Amino acid sequence: MQKNGILILDFGSQYTLLIAKALRECSIYAEVLPSNLNLETYQKLSFKPHGIILSGGPDSVLDENSQQIPDWLLKQKLPTLGICYGMQLIGKHFGATVVKGKSREFGQAKLTSKQTDPLFTDFDFDSPVWMSHGDHLETAGDSFDVLAHSSDKKSVDTAKSKRTITAIKHRGLDIYGLQFHPEVAHSTQGKTILKNFYLHICNQTPNWTSKNTIQACIEACKKTVGSGKVLMAVSGGVDSSVAATLLSRTLEPDQLHCVFVDHGLLRKDEAKWVEENLKKAGIKNLHVIQAQKTFLSKLAGVSDPEKKRKIIGETFIETFDRLTESIEGITHLGQGTLYPDVIESAGSGHQSKVIKSHHNVGGLPEHMKLKLVEPFRMLFKDEVREVGRELGLPENLVDRHPFPGPGLAIRIAGEVDEEKIKILQQADDIFIRGLREYGLYDKIWQAFAVFLPVKSVGVTGDNRAYGWTICLRAVAAKDGMTAKSAVIDFAVLDSISKEIIQSTPEVARVLYDITSKPPATIEWE
Ligand code: XMP
Repeated sequence: MQKNGILILDFGSQYTLLIAKALRECSIYAEVLPSNLNLETYQKLSFKPHGIILSGGPDSVLDENSQQIPDWLLKQKLPTLGICYGMQLIGKHFGATVVKGKSREFGQAKLTSKQTDPLFTDFDFDSPVWMSHGDHLETAGDSFDVLAHSSDKKSVDTAKSKRTITAIKHRGLDIYGLQFHPEVAHSTQGKTILKNFYLHICNQTPNWTSKNTIQACIEACKKTVGSGKVLMAVSGGVDSSVAATLLSRTLEPDQLHCVFVDHGLLRKDEAKWVEENLKKAGIKNLHVIQAQKTFLSKLAGVSDPEKKRKIIGETFIETFDRLTESIEGITHLGQGTLYPDVIESAGSGHQSKVIKSHHNVGGLPEHMKLKLVEPFRMLFKDEVREVGRELGLPENLVDRHPFPGPGLAIRIAGEVDEEKIKILQQADDIFIRGLREYGLYDKIWQAFAVFLPVKSVGVTGDNRAYGWTICLRAVAAKDGMTAKSAVIDFAVLDSISKEIIQSTPEVARVLYDITSKPPATIEWE
């Protein structure tokens, strides 16, 4: 099956991945590649681009060293849409005047347009669009028609504001530019525009569904693995469980071995739950490795978050390594890596910066000589959930909140030991059960408890207590790349906090984390 879609060139905007996500939500396949993509790589893409989107970015086209449109790109004569910096690049290329604004324009604005264009089919001009830019087009030059201006929301009604050129169209080519960001949720009708670009400018019909997602993943896995044998690392989370299920239905039974490592940093009763569910999903060669002692002894006395992550990563690899040697003919290691992991990782050649060394993408040690098979390397989490449903996996598996590979080690601030793990497991279990009882679990992207090595005084009965601190974290997010603290009724938090204190005597205080990402991250370490 030939995948068709849109190629997005990433000029470093924090929103680039959202363009791909918005397109995929419109059933349009999209991939993000770095802005310095070369022609050779372009010609070898695993899908056929019918259109190109140039993302926004932090550079100014007025600076000498700013990122440029690759010289081969416009020669492909594909419909092209520039967003923000992407529009300024296109503008500059065809003779428009780009200038620095007196200040950055940031926030919602409204469009005004006297001209109809297929790009704006069914677009409601009363809906807000999201602006985030410093430079703008002062004149559109001879090559472009101006399709829309914008005024900031406050001055729309008074019509006093200086109007910004917000949408342009090349007079002879299928090239468009938008100063605003259609990909962010604050542009409430942005997806209509992205869909129009594909439908009416690229003249293609959106056809990217979870059925052909599965088909494409199956074909890619078959091609990667060939007659080899996969050791698939499963954690019990959504991504690796769905990936293992997909592989088990793609490969011959003896081509797939799954390994679940109990590193002792799992949630309460999780190991048993995972084993049962993987078996129910039809996973045959399942190796459960009890490695609690190894992991905990290596972590003893280590408090630096990055060191903890490194130790856990290396110990995972050593564990897989030993198992690989004991099974004949393993050629590949399977992982549930997702698209945001690939984009956010240093190794991908993309522009975004690495915040934590958490992602699976770094590769394997030389000596392992295994190749990687990552069926969902190009998918977002909600697409993986859809695939899981298509494959008939139960909702309580498909809808599980994400859980990080290093497990509770990054939810215990500082040094990790068995006592802290036990306390945290207990508090976390009460929190999650509480959310389920109040019908909140499925409304929240991710919720968990964090152990803080801070002691404070309390009173239990008539006695003085001196105990640890538990922080509850629950976030609303779409993809985990940005998040807001979830608004939970105080009565719910109060009842959960009481239960934690009553049933966990080692805990003296319960807090609720109200920080967004950014500036915080979702996990504490
Ligand atoms: P942060 O803390 O970076 O988390 O805002 C974003 C999402 O990624 C998950 N996460 C991890 N997942 N290994 C994983 O498999 C990790 O090391 C890791 N660190 C964070 C986190 O739970 C959230 O969903």
